Amino acid sequence: MKSSAKAYVNIALIKYWGKTDEVLKLPFNSSLSLTIDQFYTTTTVNYLPQLSEDVLYIDHQLITGNELKRVKDLMDIIRKQFGVGSFAEISSVNHVPKAAGLASSSSAFAALVAAATNALGLNLSHTELSKLARLGSGSACRSIFGNFTIWQKGSSHETSYAYEFAKWEDFRVIVCLLDKSEKTISSSEGMRLAVKHPQYLEYVKQSEIDLTLIKEAIVQQDIHKTGQIAQSNAIRMHQLINACGINYWNDKTIKLIEKIKDLQQKIPVYFTVDAGPNVKLLTTKKYLNEVMSHLTHIETVVCQAGKEVEII
Ligand code: PMV
Repeated sequence: MKSSAKAYVNIALIKYWGKTDEVLKLPFNSSLSLTIDQFYTTTTVNYLPQLSEDVLYIDHQLITGNELKRVKDLMDIIRKQFGVGSFAEISSVNHVPKAAGLASSSSAFAALVAAATNALGLNLSHTELSKLARLGSGSACRSIFGNFTIWQKGSSHETSYAYEFAKWEDFRVIVCLLDKSEKTISSSEGMRLAVKHPQYLEYVKQSEIDLTLIKEAIVQQDIHKTGQIAQSNAIRMHQLINACGINYWNDKTIKLIEKIKDLQQKIPVYFTVDAGPNVKLLTTKKYLNEVMSHLTHIETVVCQAGKEVEII
């Protein structure tokens, strides 16, 4: 009754920012991401009959409070769905090049559901794992798959899951580690405010258009179009966030973005930013060295497409 799994972080190019259903974590719009190879989580789940509740360690530290509750809630769903009585000892380790402040729930919940179900002797399809991972954290449903992944929004638990959409070997994501501190406003809180904003439905409509266009650009492996669409989608998300009175960026974020906007007049390099100040640059292998020569003063991690979740 013990199993370990490994799942990689994913970075959204078309963002998920708002839920139609808080419990099932159904999104307002479909989203698209790249699973990346340098950031991942390994999780071991060990069901032990003697435990009276789940015990959670993250990076070898015993976890209590809210973080534990999120994991317990998902474990309860798994226990109920598969008729299991035992609680489990869960140990999760985030493998990031340094204490990056990028610890993502996407890889964590993807690894958790894979380990927790495999330890029960179940061999669930990736689609089933994706639905379960979504219940832990929306973006985690995409980390079940490698490469470019689409989370189709669906309209129910059964119809909202991710799938692998495309491969693009030369695509690169440069993660720029500008600030390692924890974010102050969670994505869930940010999303709750966003969906109430008068312009929200317009934002959702544009995201669906962005998704249609970026799919075409990715299939054509057109870095100019892919980057431009991803960048404008990220800017729109942060404009909405700002309009709700929240700001995830800092001076370093703004400075780097300005620099990238200059650089993209000459070569295809674009940016995206999530619910925090760190910037992720999008380019291809061909332009990597040139982009990197402009980033000598900051800590960077160069990533390419990562793999699907695996049992280890
Ligand atoms: O799944 P959550 O609650 O970590 O939200 C993810 C939100 C963004 O990273 C900003 C966008 C996305 O689609 O991953």
